[in-house]
Amino acid sequence: MTRIGLLGCGAIGTQIALAIDSGKIPAILTHVYDDSKEASAILVGKLKNKPEIVENPHLLSSHPVNIVVEAASQDAVRDAGLSVLQNKRDLMIMSVGALLDESIYDILSDACKDFKKTIFLPSGAIAGLDGIKSVKDELESVSITTTKHPRSLKGAKFFENSKINLDSISSSMTIFEGTAKEAVSLFPANINVAALLSLSGIGSERTNVKIVADPDTDKNTHHIEAAGKFGKMTFMIENFPDPDNPKTSRLAILSAIETLKKYCSNDIQIGT
Ligand SMILES: NC(=O)c1ccc[n+]([C@@H]2O[C@H](COP(=O)([O-])OP(=O)(O)OC[C@H]3O[C@@H](n4cnc5c(N)ncnc54)[C@H](O)[C@@H]3O)[C@@H](O)[C@H]2O)c1
Repeated sequence: MTRIGLLGCGAIGTQIALAIDSGKIPAILTHVYDDSKEASAILVGKLKNKPEIVENPHLLSSHPVNIVVEAASQDAVRDAGLSVLQNKRDLMIMSVGALLDESIYDILSDACKDFKKTIFLPSGAIAGLDGIKSVKDELESVSITTTKHPRSLKGAKFFENSKINLDSISSSMTIFEGTAKEAVSLFPANINVAALLSLSGIGSERTNVKIVADPDTDKNTHHIEAAGKFGKMTFMIENFPDPDNPKTSRLAILSAIETLKKYCSNDIQIGT
């Protein structure tokens, strides 16, 4: 049976843990860690099969787990990602924005090769990455337009130097257009999908991002267009937010669970 360590016991971590506990993911959750002791205690309280709460994130991979699942923050990836691979464990990352820092990407990518381990990045809150990966060498343009309710964008660094007042937006309004690289620094909590798209395709400086604030929407919507010698692809994803964390889409959680099911199963594998 696959043994899993979990880093981060919030909205995504909790749903992954419950999927393991119910047998939906054929694995054992052996160890968990969260900076918030309360969050880890609450999570363990919900489970029939209780994992051990460890004292720091590095202890997750010093135990004999097969994979550590990160569902915490970009800081957690920077802090603990390398030690997971050095301890010869696989790693699944949800805070994908951390990998748009080229030095972090290179360190983790080299460690995968050195220690013969794999990092898994679930498709998260978008779809179509299988197609984008396949046509990578023939891509000429990739763009993503993300539309969210203004409250989902609150707190972003972008607004420190902007005259836009999110509270006064009364109809759909484009508030940012630029590269995925620029979006990373200005909207760090909203860029996981742009980061995934960049990493699957033609990189963060050639992936165009538009962010729209729409006070009339209750969904997180992503419209992706990719074109090149192969032809053209268009994807439209309308996500309902998770009730425990409206910034996280239900699809992101389901894609994390599906990635782990695939990791833990010997079976026919569908998709590229
Ligand atoms: N790939 C995607 O499509 C996608 C989609 C949604 C969210 N995410 C990312 O996944 C991560 C988790 O999302 P969530 O909705 O579960 O968030 P959440 O806020 O509900 O939970 C995060 C948990 O991690 C803990 N935490 C934060 N930093 C930590 C650290 N350095 N070490 C240990 N614990 C730490 C927090 O205390 C919290 O309990 C976030 O970084 C989020 O941006 C990715």
